[in-house]
Amino acid sequence: METKRFQIDPKHMDMEQIRQAAQILREGGLVAFPTETVYGLGGDAEDPDASRAIYAAKGRPSDNPLIVHICDYHQLEEIASELPETAKKLSDAFWPGPMTLIVKKNQRIPLETTGGLETVAVRFPSHPVATALIRESGCMIAAPSANTSGRPSPTNADHVWTDLNGKIQGLIDGGEVEIGLESTIVDLTEEVPMILRPGYINKEMLEKVVGEVRVDPAVLGTENVHIKPKAPGMRYKHYAPKGNLKIVTGQEETVVKEIEKMATEDEAAGKKVGIIATAETEDRYSHGTVLCIGDRRNEDEIAHNLFAVLREMDELGMENIYSEDFSTPRIGQAIMNRLLKAAAHQVIEV
Ligand code: TXA
Ligand code: MG
Repeated sequence: METKRFQIDPKHMDMEQIRQAAQILREGGLVAFPTETVYGLGGDAEDPDASRAIYAAKGRPSDNPLIVHICDYHQLEEIASELPETAKKLSDAFWPGPMTLIVKKNQRIPLETTGGLETVAVRFPSHPVATALIRESGCMIAAPSANTSGRPSPTNADHVWTDLNGKIQGLIDGGEVEIGLESTIVDLTEEVPMILRPGYINKEMLEKVVGEVRVDPAVLGTENVHIKPKAPGMRYKHYAPKGNLKIVTGQEETVVKEIEKMATEDEAAGKKVGIIATAETEDRYSHGTVLCIGDRRNEDEIAHNLFAVLREMDELGMENIYSEDFSTPRIGQAIMNRLLKAAAHQVIEV
């Protein structure tokens, strides 16, 4: 199949192109599009065949539910069987934006879209291209991240093209995304809201709006790898580069020394070594291929660059990859959640 590539500047939107892409969705086709978090692979959420096509294009297990993207709060009411008070409060505070709410579903969204679950994940994105596409199509759009299953999520259209060219009908290139990490997923089906996937909107921000919030123990730290996460997608190996990635954690000085030592040994053994460093440390490595993820004092930059850096390590054919730790104050939990998964929880403490 030929993938039609649309070029749309989010600041000066060409509505004719949006209409063409929307038409593909209405006819049951798939269109990848930018959101403020990562690129999504969209299909009509009410069409079971479109959902099946999404799983096929991504090579994703069909028991891993999709997120339904809406462009109006009332659409949440249309597809939920019941809504707790917290849904209104959180959506008032954070929609449109990088937050997904899990609620009990009614008949309208088919089980194909929710991976067989009686709950549905819903998000109202803030990216102008995403909302225009939802509105013009008249559909609610089911969209997982637009990567091949298991690869890092796409933060620009070229990433999507690499993974899905020839497998989907359309791709809207709307430039680089802003945040670079997928949305925060909050489960509202139990008494206390629970974060199933950390993101840009963190626990403290949610708690200011609804009081107590819990975090699914499965998303925390290394010692919990055996706990089964509530979001099916968090079970799978994910975000992973092809090389063997290890995270080195400890005092900056010691971390740099340890990575430098391992890189030297690996290179001597004939391995291609990649190092994920920061602006503060990149000049201190003399072995390996060093990629700078950003400035430690700018955690938004680190979040934004994470998936692109992991993809670049693949393109460069790196076999062993060492990363510094990015447990930054605000979104560090979200960054480290992705990095730990990418590293299959291999952490070296120094
Ligand atoms: O930022 C985002 O959320 C991006 C953009 C495109 O909106 N989308 C995204 O979708 O990351 P995806 O499919 O890659 O991740 C969805 C996650 C998966 O881990 C899935 O298991 C979980 O949400 N999920 C979806 N529906 C669920 C449900 N009913 N209950 C629990 N987890 C659910
Ligand atoms: Mg994904």
